[in-house]
Amino acid sequence: MSKTVLTNKLGMIGGGRMAEALISGVLSAKLYRPDQIWVADPDAGRLDHLNTRYGVQVGGTNHEVVGLSDVVVLAVKPQVMADAVRGVSDMVTKQLVISVAAGVKICRIMEACGADTRLIRAMPNMPAMVGEGITALAVGPKIEEDAIQCARQIFESVGRVVLIDERLMDAVTGLSGSGPAYVFLMIEAMTDGGVKMGLPRETASLLAAQTVVGAARMVLETGQHPAGLKDQVASPGGTTIAGLHRLEQGGVRAVVIDAIEAATKRSQELGG
Ligand SMILES: NC(=O)c1ccc[n+]([C@@H]2O[C@H](COP(=O)([O-])OP(=O)(O)OC[C@H]3O[C@@H](n4cnc5c(N)ncnc54)[C@H](OP(=O)(O)O)[C@@H]3O)[C@@H](O)[C@H]2O)c1
Repeated sequence: MSKTVLTNKLGMIGGGRMAEALISGVLSAKLYRPDQIWVADPDAGRLDHLNTRYGVQVGGTNHEVVGLSDVVVLAVKPQVMADAVRGVSDMVTKQLVISVAAGVKICRIMEACGADTRLIRAMPNMPAMVGEGITALAVGPKIEEDAIQCARQIFESVGRVVLIDERLMDAVTGLSGSGPAYVFLMIEAMTDGGVKMGLPRETASLLAAQTVVGAARMVLETGQHPAGLKDQVASPGGTTIAGLHRLEQGGVRAVVIDAIEAATKRSQELGG
């Protein structure tokens, strides 16, 4: 898809880590200029930081920022979302509203903001902070194609984007939302394995992390099935098949599937 500079104004309600990742992404991608972005947050230190580092506009209330914006990103924690939305609902008219709050359903925000609200629910993940996120977008009933394209461009500035039905959002949370933690754990364990076998920790950590990056890029860039790629590494009677056998003995596949199921169910419970 061709990239165009967005002419609208972007408001962020909440200026925390996810908001900063998005600000950094859209500025780097030149989708917006700093003077097109407003951020509201109760923490003056955060606002100072965002203004100094990115040159974005700060100082307005949530209400003022929503009034100034064409696209509003709700980037507060799920537990304060209801209060934050209540405080700005009378200002929401034609804006495209994008919520990144985990577990907060489209119907909840539309109840608060009005049945005509143009709302998209997004589930990004932590690697958005380094431009390698994956975001699932679920669209509300009043969303048209150009709004989807706008949201897509914003989140593609910090990684990849998939469009999904909202009923699958808990599964997304269990997989890509929580997934970075599973991979961190895997990298830590691979590092420990290397250290056990005599490698210096720093070297082992680099070997492990870059191996994960490289393997993931192989899957994404070749389009091959991961099992086919795995078979190409595992030569007959070799080292890799010995390692794979041990992983299978440990039930690693079933444990990973169970982990995603458990996280999905927990997301369903928290979402109510
Ligand atoms: N970080 C991730 O990897 C990630 C991934 C997927 C989705 N998300 C979602 O992104 C949202 C933000 O997460 P985060 O990690 O960026 O959290 P965060 O770093 O805690 O940022 C939230 C910011 O919102 C501010 N805030 C609190 N109440 C507010 C209000 N009423 N109006 C305006 N701002 C308010 C907070 O200020 P105080 O600290 O002073 O309260 C804080 O600066 C969450 O809903 C989360 O589910 C995050």
